Amino acid sequence: MIPSVLPTYNRAPLSFVKGEGAWLTEADGRRFLDLGAGIAVNALGHAHPALVQALTDQAQAVWHVSNLYQIPQQQALADKLVDHTFADTVFFTNSGTEACELAVKMARKYFHDKGQPEKVEIITFDGSFHGRSSAGIAAAGSEKMTKGFGPLLSGFVHLTFGDLDGVTNAITDQTAAILIEPVQGEGGIRPVPDAELKALRQICDDHGLLLILDEVQCGVGRTGKLFAHEWAGITPDIMMVAKGIGGGFPLGAVLATEEAASGMTVGTHGSTYGGNPLGCAVGCAVMDHVANPDFLAEVNRKAGLLRQKLEGLVADHPDVFEAVRGSGLMLGIKCKAANIDVVNAGYDNQVITVPAADNVIRLLPPLTLTDEDIAEAITRLDASAAQVENHLETA
Ligand SMILES: Cc1ncc(COP(=O)(O)O)c(C=O)c1O
Repeated sequence: MIPSVLPTYNRAPLSFVKGEGAWLTEADGRRFLDLGAGIAVNALGHAHPALVQALTDQAQAVWHVSNLYQIPQQQALADKLVDHTFADTVFFTNSGTEACELAVKMARKYFHDKGQPEKVEIITFDGSFHGRSSAGIAAAGSEKMTKGFGPLLSGFVHLTFGDLDGVTNAITDQTAAILIEPVQGEGGIRPVPDAELKALRQICDDHGLLLILDEVQCGVGRTGKLFAHEWAGITPDIMMVAKGIGGGFPLGAVLATEEAASGMTVGTHGSTYGGNPLGCAVGCAVMDHVANPDFLAEVNRKAGLLRQKLEGLVADHPDVFEAVRGSGLMLGIKCKAANIDVVNAGYDNQVITVPAADNVIRLLPPLTLTDEDIAEAITRLDASAAQVENHLETA
């Protein structure tokens, strides 16, 4: 009999009833160190007082009003995002996949309104993940995500990750945009080198294409800059944001330049819940913390510390681990043992990591992780690796 919750997830037998900072309490009372943060969502950790306050204050004022009316919290969050980024304008969504939908629509509408309606194709890369909507799975294009769901939304050209020559060769009169994650998340924490992001920006400029960055997982302070592309010194035309921006409340956004957004006039797009007062009140509180240079400096310091200790961990367990990679507090450990065995051993040792493609475990802790949490993380990961080693020996 089918479970009452549609069984599309292979869930661990863990049920968390409370969270505080980087810690989650299981129903049986055990405390787990959360290095997954809901897959890069709880940017300020669990139950951050400022977010709890923002949400409860807003809940007592007004929960929902339609986008047919002014929403001051939405205006305030849009202003903050515009002030701190390349963007001139923002549309709010409830998720990353909805941000993907709009990014694709926006790019196509831009060229349509410029009198180039043939420009509909978007170049994407293998290993990418842009959400589970029809546009999202067609953009990623992997068999795993698309099999059985055809006919797929057309207009995506899939290239090999890192193949810059392939990009230039793939551009035709139909090409509208390049869509890329500055650091692939689901694909196994694969950062795009700064030089490559710069080159993609140049290619877009040379060919009159739009550069769309998917910063759903790598944005909002995760890499130690407010947005990951800042490391490369470039700006996109359109950017997808979600996860961390809501700190755990469902919230996403598409940020764009005035030019790229020029086709999106009244009536061309909408959302019932996107930009609702609750989400935007929380988003404002997240931005007030994460956009602070002192906060980002701390993220970088802690990222350096964690990475250094992880390098030691990998060296101590050469049969389990291969290498550390990533950027800021978006780290991956490429495993030699099966990554899922390491994740499961982590559960036994009360530390949460997240599996990714390419046999990687992801560490996406709250950006508010403390130095003590880092020390504890290494102790627990060390015990988890030792457990996997024992199994390898006895197997
Ligand atoms: C890079 C990236 N884009 C898009 C998405 C989809 O976001 P959501 O799950 O909020 O729809 C994700 C989710 O993991 C993601 O990592």
